Amino acid sequence: MSINTMKAIRLHEFGGPEVLRYEEAPIPELKSGEVLIRVHAVGINPPDWYLREGYKDLPPEWRPPVPFPVILGSDVSGVVEAVATDVQSFSVGDEVFGMVRFPSFGESAAYAEYVAAPESDLALKPAGIDHIHAAGAPMAGLTAWQFLIELGHSEANPLQPESHRPVPLSGKTVLINGAAGGVGHLAVQLAKWKGAHVIAVASGKHESFLRELGADEFIDYTKYPPEDVAQDVDLVLDTLGGPTTSRFLRTLKRGGALFPVFLGFSDAEEAAKLDVTVSMTQVRSNGPLLVELGRLLNAGTVRVAIDSIFPLADARKAHERAAGGHIQGKIVLTVE
Ligand SMILES: NC(=O)c1ccc[n+]([C@@H]2O[C@H](COP(=O)([O-])OP(=O)(O)OC[C@H]3O[C@@H](n4cnc5c(N)ncnc54)[C@H](OP(=O)(O)O)[C@@H]3O)[C@@H](O)[C@H]2O)c1
Repeated sequence: MSINTMKAIRLHEFGGPEVLRYEEAPIPELKSGEVLIRVHAVGINPPDWYLREGYKDLPPEWRPPVPFPVILGSDVSGVVEAVATDVQSFSVGDEVFGMVRFPSFGESAAYAEYVAAPESDLALKPAGIDHIHAAGAPMAGLTAWQFLIELGHSEANPLQPESHRPVPLSGKTVLINGAAGGVGHLAVQLAKWKGAHVIAVASGKHESFLRELGADEFIDYTKYPPEDVAQDVDLVLDTLGGPTTSRFLRTLKRGGALFPVFLGFSDAEEAAKLDVTVSMTQVRSNGPLLVELGRLLNAGTVRVAIDSIFPLADARKAHERAAGGHIQGKIVLTVE
């Protein structure tokens, strides 16, 4: 490896996991406000395979132009190697974690030995957890936080005209669909931390895992339709979303809320009739919110579960694991 290059996973074309290439790429140059991170671990997330596949399931107007070759990924944990002269919050040697530049599309990304990240996207890694667990936290944790607790920014919402507004959780019944996945397992813990009664929906193998994380009730969706079993719920966070999310309208109380995390809801008239608020948002990078989440991770109030770990060079196997479904927690790549 020459002095200005690093190993990275890059795409030269769209396709299946086989198009992920482990190869040399230039080490990103620092711009104003940025921190160069020596990456120790990378958390993988659905947008990574949406990009790999050419965003084929997104509406055409949502598909950004992709300049090949491109590095994938947003979530990292690592050590600060260098800082731009105007960086205030971090110094060389700090351990940091963050979701880098999401949802915008930058030239530096996570599946690499080095990533250049805006300092505003980062927080100090909680000292009590390792890089693998910290790398699993940012996108899933920020999604759960921005849907359930606090949006943390005033940028326009690309998914609806109005801003997404979390609802009070204390003493409320909250159903989380897809509860064992990246977003779901952190949402279960955050809703419990906020004092909600939590109903977790997942396939049966995740029951003891979710009860250990604090779920009060568990519904195995492979045995019972959760929308028929649960009733009088105040809030449904549907981490699957999509067109099937409307079935949860009948699960909710009048005045309740349905938060789908993926596009596809189309029953606005029915929701209005039932007085149910349907709202969604797109997760955004946010260092200050990660500081707050980091406190909970450090205290053990919230923990990141690890589904599986692969070396960066085996990103293909990690994507194949993701395609197999039934993820419990997070898939993480380690970087030597
Ligand atoms: N709006 C945003 O900004 C935003 C941000 C992050 C993620 N997302 C979206 O959120 C979704 C979830 O992301 P993630 O990272 O949590 O994914 P993930 O880690 O892959 O988790 C998905 C989970 O859903 C469960 N599941 C699958 N089918 C199910 C069903 N029919 N009913 C209930 N559970 C089911 C899976 O396990 P079992 O089937 O074994 O239960 C798995 O644990 C993705 O579509 C992603 O694109 C949106």
